[in-house]
Amino acid sequence: MPITQSTRTSVPRRQVARRVAVVAAAAALAVATFAVPASAATLRELGTAAGKDVGFALDPNRLSETAYKQIADSEFSLVVAENAMKWESTEPQRGQFSWGQADAVASYAATTGKKLYGHTLVWHQQLPGWAQNLGASELESAMVSHASTVVRRYAGQVVAWDVVNEAFEENGTRRQSVFQQRLGNGYIETAFRAARSADPAVRLCYNDYNIEGINAKSDAVYAMVKDFKARGVPIDCVGLQSHFIVGQVPSSLRQNMERFAALGVDVRVTELDIRMTMPSDSTKLAQQAADYRSVFSTCNAVARCQGVTIWGITDKYSWVPDVFSGQGAALVWDNGYAPKPAYAAIQAAFGGVTPTPTPTPTPTATATPTPDPTTPPAGTCSVTYGASTWNTGFTANVIVRNLSATPVDGWRLTFTFPSGQSVTQAWSSTVTQQGAQVTVTNAPWNGSIAPGQSQTFGFNGAHPGTNGTPTGFALNGAACSVV
Ligand code: G3I
Repeated sequence: MPITQSTRTSVPRRQVARRVAVVAAAAALAVATFAVPASAATLRELGTAAGKDVGFALDPNRLSETAYKQIADSEFSLVVAENAMKWESTEPQRGQFSWGQADAVASYAATTGKKLYGHTLVWHQQLPGWAQNLGASELESAMVSHASTVVRRYAGQVVAWDVVNEAFEENGTRRQSVFQQRLGNGYIETAFRAARSADPAVRLCYNDYNIEGINAKSDAVYAMVKDFKARGVPIDCVGLQSHFIVGQVPSSLRQNMERFAALGVDVRVTELDIRMTMPSDSTKLAQQAADYRSVFSTCNAVARCQGVTIWGITDKYSWVPDVFSGQGAALVWDNGYAPKPAYAAIQAAFGGVTPTPTPTPTPTATATPTPDPTTPPAGTCSVTYGASTWNTGFTANVIVRNLSATPVDGWRLTFTFPSGQSVTQAWSSTVTQQGAQVTVTNAPWNGSIAPGQSQTFGFNGAHPGTNGTPTGFALNGAACSVV
């Protein structure tokens, strides 16, 4: 059976300051070089090798900028819409949906072989006026209809949704949003059940800020998740937004991640940025780098941490200066798209600059293997296989690289599961499985692999207790080395 792919008060952006910044950045861009040396692995490659998503928040209107698109394409294995999939964007009038921007993000994910993360279905901000004025029963009906419609549209494309966003206060009580006031405590459960009904396979997340460490707010979320799991309310993950201040990454981040994991849910760092009081300086940038490294290292150390998403690419377009006056420089690339010290720090969090290739065993001097006419020569392809494993499930990310001098036009990757694993959901590919034998074929958009280039796909799977690395990778019948 084929398994096919898968407080604050916002203020309008400061137009004048931005135009000046844009002009300055454009000038800088003319001479900017992008600091990742050719030999260095991208964050996408390092993350994939570690079995972790490395994501970013996309504004599709920025893809027309060459520098923005170049970094977006090469550095990330996951993409989330910064604004395009929010209620005000997708259903500006009741029952009248506007899919253009959201579809642009989904299309970008598909064409660049990235996982697509859904943000967000139910949130008190960026909620259209018509929904804010509804009575209780109408609001519940509108909420269920909205969530269901959006989830159904992207079923098989979105791997996980922020179903409800920011429902708690700092002291652990419920935020008195229009949803809470009109529908009471049950609205969160209602939203999760609606999303599950619309897509049985997608992973469902609760997302919030200031719940990264152990505190009254994260305790309240913990209690909700524990209750949901006990009552069979569908929830699969908790999103830790992680909008930090330089030098203030919570020391209990790992402990907090692990306690949620112990409840049987994944965790994700969903909106990472690390702001500082401007102007920036080398000391602040060094601390910021250390903080980025700490967050990525912590996620790498927690099996059920699925990955880290950074809330944007360049400081030039960060939401931070609009909301936190006098603060900024929160992202990994500066106004001119040059990587900041945080970039190398994230590479270091993954253990280095380039994934260490598995040395190819040297045949013994006496052994003169007789070539097997049925096995194509090894060396024409390589596979990087990374898996993030938990109780009985796992997420795998796979990079297939064409090491031959011949372009690949349509590919089929085969491999063998060693421990009784099975694929449950795939993205950027179509997967079929017969027993331990798995066959992966390309999606319509990623069938070409030029010499030296690669394509990435992934899948969720189930394992019986052990999750051994697959063997026997072959690309169109040619044996691949594993790196
Ligand atoms: O689209 C309009 C545009 O038509 C108008 O000309 C312009 C006038 O300034 O405003 C535009 O809307 C802006 C929107 O982003 C899209 O760019 C809003 O003013 C602005 O407030 C809104 O800010 C977004 C903010 O959420 C809204 O609360 C930020 O870009 C976005 O990064 C931020 O993201 C949130 C997450 O979704 C949830 N977690 C917190 C995070 C930071 O607030």
